[in-house]
Amino acid sequence: MSKYYLTTPIYYVNAAPHIGHTYTTIAADAIKRLKRMQGFEPVILTTGTDEHGQKIERAAAAANKSPQKFTDLISNEFRQQWKALDLQIDRFQRTTDPKHAKVVQDLFDRCVKSGYVYKGSYTGQYCVFDELYVNEAKPGDPCPDCGRPTETVTEENFYFKLSAFGDRLLKFYEDQPDFIQPESRRNEVIAFVKQGLKDVSISRTTIKWGIPVANEAPHVFYVWFDALSTYMSAVEGEGLWPADLHLIGKEILRFHAVYWPAFLWAADLPLPKKLFAHGWLLFENDKMSKSKGNMVRATPIKEALGADALRYYLLREVVFGQDGNFSYDALVQRYNSDLANGLGNLSSRTLALIHQNFGGKIPAGPGDSAIAEASKAAVDAALSAYERLEFSKALEAIWGFIGVLDRFIVERAPWNLAKSGDTAKLADTLYTAAEALRIVTALVYPVIPESAAKIWDQLGFRTPLDAIRTADLAWGKLAEGQEIEPATGVFPRADTKLMIEKMKEGEAAELVRQQTLMGVAPPPLAAAQHSSHISIDDFIKVDLRVGEVKSAAAVKGADKLLHLQVDIGEPQPRSIVAGIALAYKPEALVGRKVVIVANLAPRKLRGLESQGMIVAASLEGGNPVLASFLEDVPVGARLK
Ligand code: MSP
Repeated sequence: MSKYYLTTPIYYVNAAPHIGHTYTTIAADAIKRLKRMQGFEPVILTTGTDEHGQKIERAAAAANKSPQKFTDLISNEFRQQWKALDLQIDRFQRTTDPKHAKVVQDLFDRCVKSGYVYKGSYTGQYCVFDELYVNEAKPGDPCPDCGRPTETVTEENFYFKLSAFGDRLLKFYEDQPDFIQPESRRNEVIAFVKQGLKDVSISRTTIKWGIPVANEAPHVFYVWFDALSTYMSAVEGEGLWPADLHLIGKEILRFHAVYWPAFLWAADLPLPKKLFAHGWLLFENDKMSKSKGNMVRATPIKEALGADALRYYLLREVVFGQDGNFSYDALVQRYNSDLANGLGNLSSRTLALIHQNFGGKIPAGPGDSAIAEASKAAVDAALSAYERLEFSKALEAIWGFIGVLDRFIVERAPWNLAKSGDTAKLADTLYTAAEALRIVTALVYPVIPESAAKIWDQLGFRTPLDAIRTADLAWGKLAEGQEIEPATGVFPRADTKLMIEKMKEGEAAELVRQQTLMGVAPPPLAAAQHSSHISIDDFIKVDLRVGEVKSAAAVKGADKLLHLQVDIGEPQPRSIVAGIALAYKPEALVGRKVVIVANLAPRKLRGLESQGMIVAASLEGGNPVLASFLEDVPVGARLK
């Protein structure tokens, strides 16, 4: 069968990976697994990092690093992130890779040869953040895309004759109605091209951090000319071009749907087959941004609830193509209702009943014909929705079928059949449940691969789930007598409140880790720097007291927290929850003098009230160190 080559955008290294990047890359991983199930061979997935340009140069300078050192570091962070989430990336292409530079130069040379490149000069406004000339803006105007102030620049550039491609593009969108998806996005692009296209500059002379245009110093390639070419350089010489799918976020559709086809036509190279622009992921219905501090990272969620919980949530809750919302609460609720109760229950119940009644061997088929029919309908509905990348619809169809199975099991009441000794009907019931579970497990595999593989193993299969093909989804393929494994819970139920706390704690720690990596000071320090000095009156507002630790104990389910009782000279000791468990053993703290912020508003952590805060030096990447005294000091003394 034929190859399938798909790509994610290559991500800018001026930000560390967050859930927005993860969303696209998870969807790409799911599509990759689906395409393999459909029999494409090989299926290759490319991602990478976009490392050139002024924005990156500035981020590197802010982190006090050379651009190369900085981009090495952040690019590696993206690579590690995809590894940690077990995403099946085949090629990770960096724009700083010399192999890539050759492909960019070649694309340029081809465009020059065909007469679509000329030298021109530009004076006008430029948005550093978006790496875009803002043609219609006046000095001081903000960027229409991001609202940041534009800068005035004058430079000689190489221009690409984009204006020559308007009609050809419109005809192409007409002839290939599937090229841009979803439909609403396609209409936006058509409207944009109909307004008329201006030529675009594809080199810069004011920037050093870029791929030099050969023999044309000081020109370096414009980042988008550079970045789009990674889709080719990643698979250079492998016969995989053109890509079958570029998966992107909606905000970069114009570059992919207008510039990219025109560059490729000018270079006489084949065009990608399809673009799919998905929507934006919001956080609790608000746009995520660094400045708002409401960005979410994926790894703490993976650590708390598993990568599949996140994958399932993102692909089930958000209609692929539209904007969607991320909320911790909805994530845990979906996990509990659909995974723990829905699929998890079906799986553990079916397997347990087979263990109890048939010695762990699949009983004889062929199973119930109405369920076999419902299975076929679910498979057809799910596969056709998957094919259109309508993940939530596909999952809805699968979970609809899980509901049908639940009702079937309850109606048949196998526990009663066992009691009454109706072995034939019991066998039929449990074969039906197991065969349906096999089909459901295979169908959900692209979305929740890790958990599906566990259920697959428990069903007793020796061949990996990854090798399954759509033809195997037909009813009746489960062999009688197959020995199943002991059933262990795949989706343990989560306590919503505790789970959300755990994910938020992980998120806070991950944020600090990433900020340290990016060379950015964590928020409290940054805030202090902005407001420069505080008065003695401000300082005195903080009531710091000498305290003596009376008792200390671990907090259940929170490996970083200790629960302390601290005497600060009041009638009752204070209850204080502190994140120092990795640094101090509870017994080593009893009797120790510490510093307590006594007038901090009380708050609850893991259900325990914390009436103040213990003061410690917080070390980057290391354990906290408690503030203490060399001389003896009385309990309750104030620090001023
Ligand atoms: N470097 C360019 C892309 C060049 S491709 C030849 C770029 N990089 S980026 O780091 O800004 O990544 C943008 C992409 O990340 C989006 O198109 C989308 O795939 C993903 N997302 C980043 N934040 C997102 C959300 N909040 N929601 C959904 N996807 C988002 O643009």
